[in-house]
Amino acid sequence: MCPDPSSQIETVLQEERVFKPSSSIVDTSNIKGLEHYQQMVEAARLNPESFWGEAALKELHWFKPFHTVLDWSNPPFAKWFDGGKTNVSYNCLDRHVKQGLGNKLAIIWEGEPGEVRKITYKELFEEVCRVANGLKELGIGKGDLVALYMPMVPEAAMAMLACARIGAPHSVVFGGFSSEALRDRLNDGEAKAVITADGGFRKDKIISLKNAVDSALENHSCPSVKSVLVVRRTCEEVAFLSGRDYWWHELIPNQSIDCPPEQMDSEDRLFVLYTSGSTGKPKGVVHTTSGYNLWAHLTFKWIFDVKEDDVYWCTADVGWITGHSYIVYGPLSNGTTTVMYEGVPRPSNPGAFWDLIQKHKINIFYTAPTAIRAFMKSGRSIPDQYDLSSLRLLGTVGEPINPEAWIWYREVIGAEKCPIVDTWWQTETGGVMISPLPGAIPTKPGSATLPLPGIEADVVTGDGKTVQANKGGYLIIKRPWPGMMRTVHGNPQRFRESYWEYLNPINGELVYFAGDGARRDEDGYFWIMGRVDDVINVSGHRLGTMEIESALVSHSSVAEAAVVGIPDDVKGESVVAFVSLETGRNSNDELISMLKKHVSQEIGAIARPDEIRFTNALPKTRSGKIMRRLLRALASGEEVKGDTSTLEDRNVLDELRK
Ligand code: PRX
Repeated sequence: MCPDPSSQIETVLQEERVFKPSSSIVDTSNIKGLEHYQQMVEAARLNPESFWGEAALKELHWFKPFHTVLDWSNPPFAKWFDGGKTNVSYNCLDRHVKQGLGNKLAIIWEGEPGEVRKITYKELFEEVCRVANGLKELGIGKGDLVALYMPMVPEAAMAMLACARIGAPHSVVFGGFSSEALRDRLNDGEAKAVITADGGFRKDKIISLKNAVDSALENHSCPSVKSVLVVRRTCEEVAFLSGRDYWWHELIPNQSIDCPPEQMDSEDRLFVLYTSGSTGKPKGVVHTTSGYNLWAHLTFKWIFDVKEDDVYWCTADVGWITGHSYIVYGPLSNGTTTVMYEGVPRPSNPGAFWDLIQKHKINIFYTAPTAIRAFMKSGRSIPDQYDLSSLRLLGTVGEPINPEAWIWYREVIGAEKCPIVDTWWQTETGGVMISPLPGAIPTKPGSATLPLPGIEADVVTGDGKTVQANKGGYLIIKRPWPGMMRTVHGNPQRFRESYWEYLNPINGELVYFAGDGARRDEDGYFWIMGRVDDVINVSGHRLGTMEIESALVSHSSVAEAAVVGIPDDVKGESVVAFVSLETGRNSNDELISMLKKHVSQEIGAIARPDEIRFTNALPKTRSGKIMRRLLRALASGEEVKGDTSTLEDRNVLDELRK
């Protein structure tokens, strides 16, 4: 078990500022005022099943209504909306077109070299039907897993929706992952097809996605993959294997737009998405049809308080859960106009985000604290050059936001008028769990505030007791919720052990442990303190230290490695690796570069260590466990505090200090 987070808190952030929703925001919100929120909380607490049942009937279209809201007879394996039949692509497309929204913009896309595409709901619906028929032509049917390895182009959203339409679960692999990481995921999920592009534009460079797919598949290393569908994006030369590879622009345009949606059972898989844990390989988080659809839909509607004409932009990549829930499924299920941007701000275009907000008159903007900190660093003179007056609401996600960044965001980007929603959630939770509701909950900079209605969150000690106000503890969720992950693909035991049996049952009930430490203040507000396990968060990207260590050890020079995350002003955390070499290998700068490159090749550039330090031995307990706490302190240049009596060889510490 991880160290009890309560013992880790030495200083508690003192943050006294409170921002109440202005009366104009309360008046125009769907959830008006704290009392309204509290009524919803109470209704969900007293009768969760009727609360969720009514929401599901109201918010989603059903081919056949469900007979049971929640079956929790075999915890932690939940069944939501059992007996019901629906289709997520129908909820995101058909119903809006039928209700007269066909000409409304579904997606505004801006490409990295600056081109813009505007796609209406009707056009998106038709294209998704064509893609769905194209996939069928490739032999893909209900239940077949389709992997996506795509740049941020509309075809990525179309492919996801097309998979949902024919009942083929998708598994999106972030385009920044290496071919090795892709191969692992293709094999774990036994993907039948891959949808990719010739390449993608990333930070003034081209990434060769198709080449990476070719490497992942070479020598029949992914035997389940039968076909590869390739979008032309960068027009690079790519190799084509006849009978396996197909161009999107050749296969899709001639397909029919008639593709009735598959009537899916509520618990049929919608997607698998891999995420890092503290042990072993990344786990395939499984989300299913109705519960996930409801959660993405409802949380989007509540938190962003969407209005009919809103233009909404989330800056994530569809390769992450944020892109799934809040670029594609949440906004489209609500009939909102969602913006997709292929690029990222970078020295050659530091005002890229603000330019987009100005150009497309974006009303709701959702990004990561790491981006905000980077903007803060380069100064307000850049955003000040743009007209950001269309903004109504700002959001953050992915890591704790420090109060200065929160205040800067509010003042400089939000002109002191936009509420900020700091949303806490995870790949596993499917959608947001703790967040302010803009018209209801006063905000405090740095706090994700209160759980959404129906979410019973708590902060507890290792033996399940609620901690006192302002003491740190484990963040837990006490009851199942519709958007919860259903299992780890191929490993239900890991699902049970990592999340639901990590802490002992409380009052006889299993509780979900999120992996995060938190504290609650005297008003019941949650302050997330970050991971208490060996997961690190670099620029909002979640990485297992184990994964990076395995990548390092797979290099022939490395005998052993330990990786820690240390605080970083902009990225949240940076990666420091302690490496001991095989005898006879020399530690030098060239090897450092080689090892960094090796990690990029094995996992992807996001995992590349910022710093590598060589050591003859790693500090271990007598039972052989690496004492990361010591390494973390050493790497951050802090005094090694606390008990070191379990250290097997004290000389190691002295050597490392040198
Ligand atoms: O540590 C928490 C942090 O991100 C982790 C989940 O990462 P991932 O599954 O990649 O999903 C990221 C996008 C939802 C959490 O365990 N985290 C996420 N949001 C916040 C956060 N930490 C603090 N505050 C947040 N708002």
